[in-house]
Amino acid sequence: MKILVTGASSGIGRALVQQLVAQNHEVVGIARREPELAALREELTSPRFITRVCDVADPQTALQLVNSLIEQNWIPDIAVLGAAIFPDDIRPAFDLPLFKKIIEVNLFGVFHVINALLPHFLTQRRGQFIALGSMAVYRGSARGAGYPASKAALLAAMKSLAPCYRQKNIHFSTVIFGPILTSMWEGKKSFLTPTPEQAADYILRVIHRPKPISYYPLLSTSLYRLSLLLPDKLFVYLSEKMLK
Ligand SMILES: NC(=O)c1ccc[n+]([C@@H]2O[C@H](COP(=O)([O-])OP(=O)(O)OC[C@H]3O[C@@H](n4cnc5c(N)ncnc54)[C@H](OP(=O)(O)O)[C@@H]3O)[C@@H](O)[C@H]2O)c1
Repeated sequence: MKILVTGASSGIGRALVQQLVAQNHEVVGIARREPELAALREELTSPRFITRVCDVADPQTALQLVNSLIEQNWIPDIAVLGAAIFPDDIRPAFDLPLFKKIIEVNLFGVFHVINALLPHFLTQRRGQFIALGSMAVYRGSARGAGYPASKAALLAAMKSLAPCYRQKNIHFSTVIFGPILTSMWEGKKSFLTPTPEQAADYILRVIHRPKPISYYPLLSTSLYRLSLLLPDKLFVYLSEKMLK
């Protein structure tokens, strides 16, 4: 299959690219940092893997990227949309420009790519978009406001699009992750935090069996959902304890 992966330069996206290329898929990896993409190209040394530098937050750049792939007759079967940032926009004070930037990357960055690809998926009468969601949508985060806000809007939009396009054989899937051991997760390593390779493995399962919403890993995401029964104050205290 042909698979486009945004956020390919590190973490879960990088691990996913490694596994997809090992399974003989044709992969285009997208991110902003060329040195990290170059390192991955060197590591994989595969003609089935190419990279493109692209800031998905910029609508024109994202459209040009997709169009340039289509011109080369490279229409993906699947787009895994993982590009995201999680800076702290509430300490020492609420930072509105940063809040907007997070929304631009994590929410619009996903939909710039979806908007560019959807007409081609409709023409070929198949396709799958996989967005990477977060449990932060359920309780907010002690680390910032923009990130949970962006992921909440992403989830709501993906959930709305999924039933609309299913009859057209286009799947909108969201994988909701608990903490995964990447640079984005600033908490402690524990048995509750799988590696990016394990997270990538789970995305492969969703590729083979598309479903609108899925949770990974089961234990931490179930505990998190159970935590909705806790008072907010206690939850905030416990989550701050978990951060470094
Ligand atoms: N790790 C966790 O605990 C966790 C939990 C829940 C959900 N998730 C989600 O999983 C996904 C992957 O996160 P991760 O943990 O693997 O984090 P990560 O290692 O920081 O990866 C984020 C990726 O997004 C790319 N990116 C950021 N801004 C971009 C932009 N404007 N345009 C293009 N690419 C951009 C980064 O590459 P460049 O900097 O090179 O552009 C990087 O490759 C994210 O959507 C995240 O929200 C992670």
